[in-house]
Order: sequence, then structure tokens, then C-alpha cells
Amino acid sequence: MDHVLLPPSDQTFTRYQDLIKLHTGIYLPPHKKTLLHSRLSKRLFASAMASYDDYFELLVSSAGKNELKAALELVTTNETYFFREPAHFDFMKDLLDCQPRTGERYRVWSAASSSGEEAYSLAMVLQSHCSKPWELLASDINQTVITDAKKGIYLNQRTSMIPQEFLNKYCRKGVGEFEGYLRVAPELRNRVQFDTLNLMGQLKGLGKFDIIFIRNVMIYFDDETRGSILRKLSKHLKPSGWLFVSHSESLHGVSDDYYSIKPSIYRLAAYRDEHKI
Ligand SMILES: C[S@@+](CC[C@H](N)C(=O)[O-])C[C@H]1O[C@@H](n2cnc3c(N)ncnc32)[C@H](O)[C@@H]1O
Repeated sequence: MDHVLLPPSDQTFTRYQDLIKLHTGIYLPPHKKTLLHSRLSKRLFASAMASYDDYFELLVSSAGKNELKAALELVTTNETYFFREPAHFDFMKDLLDCQPRTGERYRVWSAASSSGEEAYSLAMVLQSHCSKPWELLASDINQTVITDAKKGIYLNQRTSMIPQEFLNKYCRKGVGEFEGYLRVAPELRNRVQFDTLNLMGQLKGLGKFDIIFIRNVMIYFDDETRGSILRKLSKHLKPSGWLFVSHSESLHGVSDDYYSIKPSIYRLAAYRDEHKI
């Protein structure tokens, strides 16, 4: 008879909660126990583990480092799409149109980029509206989605939010085995620096950015983690910089380092008196 894999007990689930939060910041509330089971069960089968307790021991062992990485990737939710929350991109176009044409390089960071749709949306806006040199960093904790993002290949159905003008300019239709897919043009792909980066770690050597997009990721963290990540990000924003979160997120009561310009768009509170708009 096939072995039936039982979901983790409440006690075991607590150990997973702590491990996942420690490594990713993601807080899985008790009602996400079924989700954990559905995402990890195939890894338990693949590694011939009979129970979640056994699998946990593997994850925390020195031999289980790669397995831990795979398990943590499965716990992340990577849903994303091109030009998600389009008001942010419109706001950014207006900002770029008012930028002086000279001065230091314009720097943008998509800090939980998932499979690249957000980053390429930003790249399209930068390429068409930024009149000075720019660079774009796109990072995520999940190496698998970053590997996909670098390829810049997407199913046609997933590209309907890209404005027609940008589709014409910056996307190439797949042919042959890539029929039904679209690829971001090399001149844009080569402009985006994709990296695996954990927001829970030390964010060293990144420098300061004009714009940071940190959208639809802090919803998975608790307030304490949100506060500490926002504090770290504040060190990577230029005094004149802008921070974008999702419309469903608010920094109210979570961080005093920023003030709101409009819902979901923030600037550094320390420089409030210097900001003209
Ligand atoms: C729902 S996606 C959001 C993608 C995109 N920002 C958007 O709004 O469409 C959340 C992403 O956050 C990433 N993530 C979760 N925890 C992270 C962490 N500690 N450091 C960096 N990225 C993280 C996940 O891997 C996932 O790709």
C-alpha cells in the first residue's frame, strides 16, 4: 500500500513557521498549514521522507542546505504581471519627464522582482522616458524565478497589459518552438541586472536608488519584519528618492522613516523639508 503523507501536526508546523520566517521573513499564519503541505509534499516524496518531522531534520542538517533552498523557494508566492498597478508607471513617467537631462545616473531597484515582469515594465518606461543614463537592478530571494527573468520569455497571454507602443518597440514575437511566446528585446534585457538577493540579509554594496519598487512582498511579513526591512531600504534611497509599495499595503504604523505622497508612494521623512513636490 502507498504511504500516506499526513500534514504536519500543529507543533511541527510551528517549527516550519519559525524556520521559514528566519530565512525569508515570510510569516505563515496557522491557516496556511494546508498551503505548506500542498507546496512541500512533493519534496518529501522526492527525498523519500516519511514525515514532516523527518523532513525538518533534513532541512536543518548540513547535508540539507540545497533541500532547504528548494523548500524555501516553494514557499514563496511569485504571482506577478506586466504593468501591474499601472498608476505607478504613469506616476513614474511624469517624474522622469520632469527630470533634468544631466546629472548622476538614474537608478531603479525592483526589490522583489519575481519572474521579471515588474522589472521589464520599469525598463520600458525608463528607456522611453529617462533622458539620462539609467540602470535597473531586479532582485528576488528565489533563484529559479531570477533565472527565468533573465531569459525574458513570456507566454503571449501574459503580456496583454503591455501598452501597444511598448510591445512594438521592446518585444519580439517568438517563432518556431517559441510560437505563442514573446521575448523582451535584447537592448532592454541587457540593461537589467538580475540578482538573487534576500531582503532579510545585509544589503551591502547596492548604493542608493532614485526609485525602489517593493510591491506585494511585505504582505507576507509581520510588522516587525516590515519595519526592519523598510529601515534597511531607507539607507538605499537617495534623499530625493521614491518608494513604491502595492496599493494594498500601507506603511502607516510600520515605519516612521517615510511619509506618504499619495497611497502607496512614499519619500524619506528625513528630507521632507527639501522636497518641493
Ligand atoms: C508576489 S511576488 C511580487 C512580484 C512583484 N513585485 C509584483 O508586485 O508583481 C513576491 C516576491 O517576493 C519574493 N520574496 C519573498 N521573500 C523575499 C525576501 N526575503 N527577499 C527577497 N524577495 C522575497 C518572492 O520570491 C516573490 O517572487
